Amino acid sequence: MSTKQEIGFSVEAIRRDFPILSETMRGKPLVYLDSAATSLKPQAVIDAEVEYLTKISANIHRGVYELSERATLMYDRARETIKAFLGVREDGEVVFTKSATEASNIISRSWGLKFVGADDEIVVSELEHHANIIPWQEVAKSTGATLRFVPLSADGSFDLEAVESVLSNRTRAVAITGMSNVTGFCPPIKEIVAAAHAAGAVVIVDGAQLVSHAPVDVAALDVDFLTFSGHKMCGPTGIGVLYGKRDLLNAMDPFLYGGDMIVRVKKDRATYKEAPDKFESGTPNISGAIGLGAAIDYLSSIGMDAIHEHEESLLRYARERLLDVSEVELIGAGDSGMAAGGIVSFTFGDIHSHDIGAILDSEGVAVRTGMHCAHPFMRFLGVNGTTRASFYLYNTRSDVDQLVRALDRVRETFA
Ligand code: ALA
Repeated sequence: MSTKQEIGFSVEAIRRDFPILSETMRGKPLVYLDSAATSLKPQAVIDAEVEYLTKISANIHRGVYELSERATLMYDRARETIKAFLGVREDGEVVFTKSATEASNIISRSWGLKFVGADDEIVVSELEHHANIIPWQEVAKSTGATLRFVPLSADGSFDLEAVESVLSNRTRAVAITGMSNVTGFCPPIKEIVAAAHAAGAVVIVDGAQLVSHAPVDVAALDVDFLTFSGHKMCGPTGIGVLYGKRDLLNAMDPFLYGGDMIVRVKKDRATYKEAPDKFESGTPNISGAIGLGAAIDYLSSIGMDAIHEHEESLLRYARERLLDVSEVELIGAGDSGMAAGGIVSFTFGDIHSHDIGAILDSEGVAVRTGMHCAHPFMRFLGVNGTTRASFYLYNTRSDVDQLVRALDRVRETFA
């Protein structure tokens, strides 16, 4: 295992924080290379959730007794942690959701259906995860608006000029990934936001992969909306975040109607609170929010810059090693000089990715295979799936070596 210290933290010490890394899979040490699907959870996050479940358990915002007040404090503290982590300046801009997907649906339904018209255009890319494309297809279907696609380079990347080529005074929204879940490609968000704003459009960034892997400052980027999920950043499943500029959130209609989001309810009508409450109807995932707060504290104690640097170094190493494996073709690793996070996708001869994944699994190596919730991008690439290895702070060069060794097993099996 690499113990290189130049990255600013000890990976061996980090690995001890993740109980599952001492487990074996198929009788082999676990080599977990699927953090882009969901990350492993450190003990600090498990403890935070267990503490709430064992010692608090009460609902928030609904009781005047001590346990409920403590639950409310913990939930609110988690929101403050997220606010500081993302550089959010205003109150009311961080909404808890169940996932990045739900956040994306809130934006498309509550903002899109209200503010996008028949003559408007919505800019997306073929690179998007389904969660950042289907909701906009549905808005286009309901409103008569037109979807415009950013032209991609052969490796699936795009630059500012490509985005500018589809912007016009009809562009109402630009919905773009912060980091591709297939290739790790990171578009130049800040420049795209400036160009989209100059065209009068609102920018929605799918941060599901970005926020977990690199420092993000929403004020510096000036994004209008940003979505992400907790479970990809060492937090629990079932908790996500919608960041939105306050004026935009308050101009939107609620998404779910019910308790805790109202000011007053009469027999025939109701008035609603401002964001975030307006979008958090019903009992939320309290333990999940607390767990996400603990995950962010954990990641912040290590430093997002250091985590990003570590992943970049693993990515470089993985690309080098995989390029040496004959018949492996890296996807999206062209010469565009694109910025990329810790994700590498590849094909291996004409072996189906699910077969590759199954054999890697028998060697204790967990990767994602298939279409990665990105059918339009797979069609663009002309492949019926890829094998994807994704890295996080607990991965090592030895994990990459294990992956490459396990690919030999795949070759032997199909020889
Ligand atoms: N969106 C997740 C992935 O890319 C599930 O694997």
